[in-house]
Amino acid sequence: MSGTSLDGVDAALLDTDGEDVVRPGPSLTVPYDAAIRAQLRDALETALGMAQGAPVPQSIWDAERVLTEAHAQAVKALLEKSGLAAGDIDLIGFHGQTILHRPEQGWTWQIGDGALLAKLTGIDVVNDFRSADVAAGGQGAPLMPLYHAVMSRAAGLAEPVVVVNIGGVAQVTYIKDDYVSAFDTGPGNALIDDWVFDHTGLPIDVNGALARSGKIDLGLLSRLAEDDFFDRVPPKSLDRMEFDFIPKMMRSERLSFFDGAATLTDFTALAIAKAQNHFPSKAETWVISGGGRHNGFLMERLKERTKAYMLDAEDVAWDGDGFEAHGFAYLAVRSRKGLPLSLPTTTGVKAPMTGGRIWKASCPG
Ligand SMILES: Nc1ncnc2c1ncn2[C@@H]1O[C@H](COP(=O)(O)OP(=O)(O)O)[C@@H](O)[C@H]1O
Ligand SMILES: [Mg+2]
Repeated sequence: MSGTSLDGVDAALLDTDGEDVVRPGPSLTVPYDAAIRAQLRDALETALGMAQGAPVPQSIWDAERVLTEAHAQAVKALLEKSGLAAGDIDLIGFHGQTILHRPEQGWTWQIGDGALLAKLTGIDVVNDFRSADVAAGGQGAPLMPLYHAVMSRAAGLAEPVVVVNIGGVAQVTYIKDDYVSAFDTGPGNALIDDWVFDHTGLPIDVNGALARSGKIDLGLLSRLAEDDFFDRVPPKSLDRMEFDFIPKMMRSERLSFFDGAATLTDFTALAIAKAQNHFPSKAETWVISGGGRHNGFLMERLKERTKAYMLDAEDVAWDGDGFEAHGFAYLAVRSRKGLPLSLPTTTGVKAPMTGGRIWKASCPG
């Protein structure tokens, strides 16, 4: 899994039947170096300026190859860590890197060469998880809800359960009995990361320390809180760059670096708190996964804004960093079995929808 944060490749081992059996194994992250991150970042910018159906520029093909090779290295590292060989693994779920997400135009674009990854690893690969859902009228995202639901049931958490994943974009899944709904809440870490990188050259605000030393601009936040996105009835999903106007606005209003970091961090918390308006009832348990949970200032703001009983993924013995990678392993098995990956209540697709595309390791090329 390579998420919208562009921080690195997460690889995780899962023993599963794609249904009720889920036994998460070890995971690891192979961070991108600055050069790969810049190359992926360029691919995002290039995609942003492209028309649908336009020829794919060589720079994006190059980024795809580099990304795929990085995933092959992550698989190799995970096998070494687990003491396993390629022959012990049935299937790789390969999400790839989203470089553009415009479901309303029927367009979502993940780069990642399934044939090449199968060849490099000698393991069958499932990729392209989102496009079938989008072609069928869904948002193609979020795709983690069914994994969240099976994990929540396995842990016996008090329902309703809300699972929040804070990656580059943040999502919530709401679970009660057989009902599972989900949507993107707004920005996660992406705007914070970009702001920090542009001002300091550092990739992240470790533990939110920089943001904590700034002052939250409450006036700006209350204007941002008016954004139509928050009133939109879910399912709904976001492109990474959708709230990109905010850092631009902060620059033009001459917010200091620290105040900007504080304000962006609180905006992420505010957006997640606003998600509660769309829950069918108040959640009993909140569990937080994704890299954003390592940002102490963000977590403080989130607790303050939601007043909710909030657990860290690790509090319920989940692997909060490998969570999405485990989730895509689960979806890869579901794809092979022709089971749904998405539901009307998770992506807005008309009927439960399967997806994914298989690449056999034995095929040439
Ligand atoms: N120690 C930390 N302090 C603050 N933020 C962190 C820390 N560790 C990770 N993060 C944040 O989490 C992000 C990575 O989260 P991740 O769940 O991998 O997101 P994605 O799925 O979008 O790649 C980083 O870019 C950073 O913003
Ligand atoms: Mg990541």
